[in-house]
Amino acid sequence: MTRDRPEPPLALVAELTHRCPLQCPYCANPVALGRSGGELDTATWRRVLDEAASLGVLQLHFSGGEPTVRSDLDVLVRHAAGLGMYSNLITSGVLLDAARLRLLAEAGLDHIQLSFQDADPGNADRIGGLAGGHAGKLAVARQLRAAGLPLTVNFVVHRQNLERVPDMIGLGEALDAGRIEIAHVQYYGWALMNRDALLPTRAQLDAATDAVEAARARLRGRMVIDYVVPDYYAERPKACMGGWGRRIITVTPAGKALPCHAAEGLPGLAFPCVRETTLAAIWQDSPAFVRFRGTGWMAEPCRSCDQRETDWGGCRCQAFTLTGDAARTDPACAKAPDHAMMNAATAASALPPPAFVYRRYRSPSEPASTVGALPQTPAGGFAPCTPTRGSAPGPVI
Ligand code: SF4
Ligand code: FES
Repeated sequence: MTRDRPEPPLALVAELTHRCPLQCPYCANPVALGRSGGELDTATWRRVLDEAASLGVLQLHFSGGEPTVRSDLDVLVRHAAGLGMYSNLITSGVLLDAARLRLLAEAGLDHIQLSFQDADPGNADRIGGLAGGHAGKLAVARQLRAAGLPLTVNFVVHRQNLERVPDMIGLGEALDAGRIEIAHVQYYGWALMNRDALLPTRAQLDAATDAVEAARARLRGRMVIDYVVPDYYAERPKACMGGWGRRIITVTPAGKALPCHAAEGLPGLAFPCVRETTLAAIWQDSPAFVRFRGTGWMAEPCRSCDQRETDWGGCRCQAFTLTGDAARTDPACAKAPDHAMMNAATAASALPPPAFVYRRYRSPSEPASTVGALPQTPAGGFAPCTPTRGSAPGPVI
């Protein structure tokens, strides 16, 4: 049987490393963090970028962890520019300075997305787990605008910073950002472990949404504000990743190719490694990418729903983390048989928040209970790709 060849991915998310000086309790990296010795080396990343360009990828997002930990970042940026790809650096900024920014700009970097934990310096440093981090970000934001780099500022919001959405937007304006992203935490991995400390009340969410709408009206034509709402109060799910295996391909620091950053823990799927096969073969034919692509895998209520080619059944990782079955309808959907569990989870938002479990490496001997239970982390961590010889460039953090 032949299958139609899928459209090429729009974007490659290149997760260069899991190393990061910050410890955000909602980090999108897996709980079993990869170490520097398992990272792809420069030559392999260059080949992956070549293959991405040949496949038709137009956008490249350098991500992490903190991608500026890698001392070969400017080499990879220059390589991407030579391939004609639009490159975006997703960074906390705390390891950047004016000289490195100039180097990246000269190498052809097109855009920087700079993350902030809050508009309040003390609370930002508390959430990120790095004293002085917020002040460093402010300095870097000014330096990167001086280097001529376009800036998006990103605020991840939750119950412990949500009332400052107006201040966050004001900070984005003051930093001369072209775009502001206000993104509610999405609950996988570390964030799921910290859900009771992060999930806002409905009243908090509504106040923040009103503040975003007012700012959008005030800044119309001058500034774009992206707003990502939490699934837990939604009636319909988001089209996660634009649909499984439709728009985005992610490559982890160790070289696993994933349809989304959180997919590695889904059971029964063997995610291919870029050390062993090409990006084109992975995208077009690997069973893991084909498994939830399109609508053929859907059961009811999605199968006969008129929204199935709009939201693509929501998020497979959320379906698995909440129900134990990645093929079920995303519980965020009001039509889902499991939707009531979202309402049950929001009840904790009215109680005092527990302490954060910060994102950090854990020694092999440390009991799993010290970082909480996580449904999508298999016992013993994720199976590595074939390790590289030696370590990737950059300091171990
Ligand atoms: Fe989307 Fe499925 Fe819900 Fe329809 S039933 S809105 S396709 S998640
Ligand atoms: Fe993996 Fe949504 S986060 S499909």
